[in-house]
Amino acid sequence: MLVVAVGGSPSARSRSGVLLEQASQGLQARGVEVATFQVREFDPVDLLHARFNSASVLQWQDAVERADGLIVSTPVYKASFSGALKTLLDLLPERALEHKVVLPLATGGSIAHMLAVDYALKPVLAALKAQEVLHGIFADDSQIAYGQGSAAPQLADVLVQRLESALDTFSSALARRPRPVAPGVLNDRLLRSHFSI
Ligand SMILES: Cc1cc2nc3c(=O)[nH]c(=O)nc-3n(C[C@H](O)[C@H](O)[C@H](O)COP(=O)(O)O)c2cc1C
Repeated sequence: MLVVAVGGSPSARSRSGVLLEQASQGLQARGVEVATFQVREFDPVDLLHARFNSASVLQWQDAVERADGLIVSTPVYKASFSGALKTLLDLLPERALEHKVVLPLATGGSIAHMLAVDYALKPVLAALKAQEVLHGIFADDSQIAYGQGSAAPQLADVLVQRLESALDTFSSALARRPRPVAPGVLNDRLLRSHFSI
């Protein structure tokens, strides 16, 4: 089982990145392989000029194609998801999320914008034909505290509980995901099947 985790913050010190990392570790503890992509690690020229054929963009497209599911984590910017994340999602081919389950995560400065995932990100995921988009997690900035020096960031207990519950739901959704059957295999199964009335 492969999950692609994508971080949409341009900032290196990133609360949505902390949430994504916590989710990735939780999935790995459940036996899921996770491949992580951060939008800030792409060449900005590739993103702004929509270079579909650059090596890193091809690698991103390939990982998404092979993935069973995605975790998409974004900061709320101007009541929406980050524009940087949009440039990366724009580089995916049509129907790129077909047969895939998606768990959205977001962090924001105000709970007034906690629905940004629902009204801004989910329509984009639906346009990419995601099979199932789960209820996301929104954390406000006060729920993720940076530690002093090199100390690990601390997540509020209530956030950890919500994330664990979302990861349980996500791994169940991954497990029951119907696998597409290759046309040749389907044809073979039909030929071998026996009907009785
Ligand atoms: C340019 C910019 C715009 C923002 N716009 C909003 C906003 O509209 N609503 C909100 O709740 N928070 C907003 N914030 C706060 C961030 O969403 C919040 O601090 C978030 O946790 C940052 O995530 P990051 O650390 O992963 O980049 C904004 C922050 C920046 C830098």
